Amino acid sequence: MKDAKNSEDRSDFSFPEEERRGVYHAIYTRRDIRKEFLPTPVPREILVRLLRAAHHAPSVGFMQPWNFILVEDPSIRAELKHAVDKERQAAAIIFESPRAEKFLSLKVEAILEAPLVIGVTIDPSRDGPHVLGRLSDPDTDLYSASCGIMNMWLAARAEGIGMGWVTIFRKGDVQKILKLPYHIRPIGLLCLGYVREFPARPMLETEEWAFRQKLSDLVAVDRWDRREGELWEGIRKGLDQPDEFDWER
Ligand SMILES: Cc1cc2nc3c(=O)[nH]c(=O)nc-3n(C[C@H](O)[C@H](O)[C@H](O)COP(=O)(O)O)c2cc1C
Repeated sequence: MKDAKNSEDRSDFSFPEEERRGVYHAIYTRRDIRKEFLPTPVPREILVRLLRAAHHAPSVGFMQPWNFILVEDPSIRAELKHAVDKERQAAAIIFESPRAEKFLSLKVEAILEAPLVIGVTIDPSRDGPHVLGRLSDPDTDLYSASCGIMNMWLAARAEGIGMGWVTIFRKGDVQKILKLPYHIRPIGLLCLGYVREFPARPMLETEEWAFRQKLSDLVAVDRWDRREGELWEGIRKGLDQPDEFDWER
C-alpha cells in the first residue's frame, strides 16, 4: 500500500480544514462525564439534534436496533440510581483490596445530578429474524447501537454538552424499572448536561486506575505480532507521537 503521491492520485472528499479539525477536536476532547454537571436543562432543539445524530449511526443490515427512553420522572431516576448502586457494590467484590476500596471511591454515574438521562436499548428482533449481515454475528446489533451512542457522544461534545455512559446495572433491574418488554436489552443509561469542565484526561487515568496504552503495541501488519516492513516503518513513529490534534496534553 503506497501513499498517493500527489493530488491527482486521489479524489479529494476531505472536509475544509476547519471542519476537519472540528471532527478531531470532538474526538480528542470528548470525555466520559460523571460529575460537575450544571442544572441547566438541555434545550430541546439540541436534544433533538443529539437523538438524530445517534439515529444516523451505521447499523448492521440497516436494522437500527435502538430505542431511546428519556427519563424525566425523579422517582424513576431514583430507582435507576438504586439499581446502579447495588451493582456497584456487587462489582466491588471482584477486586482485591486495595483496588476494591478504590473502585468504590470512584464516581461511576450521575443519574440524579445530570439534567438529562437517556436509556438506550436494543431490540434484537427488529427487522425480523434474517437481518443482512447478522447471521454471522448476532452481537452486531450491539455494535450498531454502540455506534449510535458514540455519534451522540461526539455531537454532544460539539454542542458543549457532557455525557457519561453508565453500564453498571443488572439488565433485569433496568428492564423492570423502564418497563421494557422482555426481549429488549438495555445497553446504557446516558447522563447528559452542561458541565463545569471537560477534563483533559480520562477520569480513570487521573485517578491512576488505568492508563492509555501505547498505540504501537496495538497495531500490527499482516498478522497478530508482525511489526516490520515498509508500511510499519512508515507509521510506527507517528502512532505514539502527540500530534497537532492532541488536545489531551
Ligand atoms: C461501553 C462503555 C461502558 C461504560 N460504562 C461506564 C460506567 O458504567 N460507569 C462509568 O463511570 N463509566 C463508564 N464508561 C466510561 C469509561 O470509563 C471511559 O470511557 C474511559 O474511562 C475513558 O475515559 P473517556 O471516555 O473520558 O475518554 C463506559 C464506557 C463505555 C465505552
